[in-house]
Amino acid sequence: MRLAIIGTGYVGSVTGACLSEMGNSVICVDKNAKKVAEFSQGKAPLHEKGLNELIARNLKAKTLRFTTELEEALDASDIVFIAVGTPPNEDGSADLSHVLDVARSIGQMIKHPLIVVDKSTVPVGTAELVRATIASEQKKHGTDFEFHVVSNPEFLAQGTAVKDFMEPSRIVVGADEPQVIETMRELYAPFMRREGRFYAMDPKTAETVKYASNCFLAAKISVNNELANICARIGADFDLVRKAMGADPRIGEPFMYAGPGFGGSCFPKDVRALIKIAKDHNYHAEMFLQTLSTNEKQKYVLADMANDYFGSDLAGKVFSVWGLAFKAGTDDMRESSALTIIQRLIDQGARVQAHDPEAMKMAKQPEYFGDDSRITYFDDKYAALDGADALLIITEWKDFRTPDFQEMKKRLNKPLIFDGRLLYEPKKMKEIGFEYKSIGRK
Ligand SMILES: NC(=O)c1ccc[n+]([C@@H]2O[C@H](COP(=O)([O-])OP(=O)(O)OC[C@H]3O[C@@H](n4cnc5c(N)ncnc54)[C@H](O)[C@@H]3O)[C@@H](O)[C@H]2O)c1
Repeated sequence: MRLAIIGTGYVGSVTGACLSEMGNSVICVDKNAKKVAEFSQGKAPLHEKGLNELIARNLKAKTLRFTTELEEALDASDIVFIAVGTPPNEDGSADLSHVLDVARSIGQMIKHPLIVVDKSTVPVGTAELVRATIASEQKKHGTDFEFHVVSNPEFLAQGTAVKDFMEPSRIVVGADEPQVIETMRELYAPFMRREGRFYAMDPKTAETVKYASNCFLAAKISVNNELANICARIGADFDLVRKAMGADPRIGEPFMYAGPGFGGSCFPKDVRALIKIAKDHNYHAEMFLQTLSTNEKQKYVLADMANDYFGSDLAGKVFSVWGLAFKAGTDDMRESSALTIIQRLIDQGARVQAHDPEAMKMAKQPEYFGDDSRITYFDDKYAALDGADALLIITEWKDFRTPDFQEMKKRLNKPLIFDGRLLYEPKKMKEIGFEYKSIGRK
């Protein structure tokens, strides 16, 4: 099939690369010329496992290309995916300006029948809004080409995005016309070798599935963090609690971890957006408001642990921090707990020596820490420990799971770890001479 993908962020670039891998002819469009140039050279300007390989292979096979020219991409496509960002507005609602900009452009440039697929996470009713926007632009321009609007929310998770797209847990397609649903089923057939994972429904229901899923997962994290905080106070070990809890199939093993709070570009914004949608329909979504406030509190737990140990005047103290990204497997720092934790430490006078396998370049961007001289970055995780009074572990990178503890002891001023990810066995840490304090344990 001939496809255009508008927006080459985490979702658009992975969607484009995976669909081209299945033999479709894909043109990815972004208004950011620098990004387009980097993608065109086969170097994704974002970190996602396996993405560069897919892009390089399909650029070579000419099944994939990147451009800033939307009109040229529309002319050469029959299905157009909108995968631009929907950041939060001040009131928590999703900012639809990028989605509607694209819809307006499609209405102005359409020259043959199109299926327009909304892959961005958008409030209920957006498919209708996109349809009305395209129709109104066509009317202004004196055209009347047939088009259909489909809601097709994306469930990939950053860090495992390529795998998630290639082996989806489910494909959700919201459309009113049966023949459009059939076209979408055909497009996704190569990704659904196992049956029963294609869910067809009306567009409003499809739009709701995405918010419902993210709110449920965010609430699950907040429930576990709450339990972990209680465990830490009563002397129970949350790591064992969650394993035994997860054995109950009604609870389940996946996604049962405690940590320093959720971040990223999806959970916080999507929970806020559903709360706002509910409010607009006169419903007070108390459960999800609580999910957010529990999460905000959770972001301070690691810094609180450091304060309990050292007091709240951290002048002269040096903290080594492992992990800056909001989760492992990505360079994304949007709403990362590391931002809150590090800011608190440096506000209290400390200096920070940070290491992250992928996110250090991102951390130095002006919207994060910029060139703040109180933070020094290290490519080597052990070098980041030199002379530090303690290590804080924020992100669950695999690389942090079995480090050389003797090397760590040699480099740290004091063998002290505050672990936000419950990576190590407390008993073992004590045996090898570490003071080890982790979330979810006394
Ligand atoms: N990141 C995730 O894990 C994830 C998962 C599922 C769904 N989503 C949703 O998918 C959407 C995209 O998310 P993302 O993380 O990929 O966003 P992103 O911010 O990484 O990328 C968005 C891209 O769209 C481009 N863009 C904006 N306006 C444009 C226009 N008019 N024309 C061409 N390009 C334009 C931007 O330059 C940017 O490259 C959001 O609605 C998000 O909520 C994200």
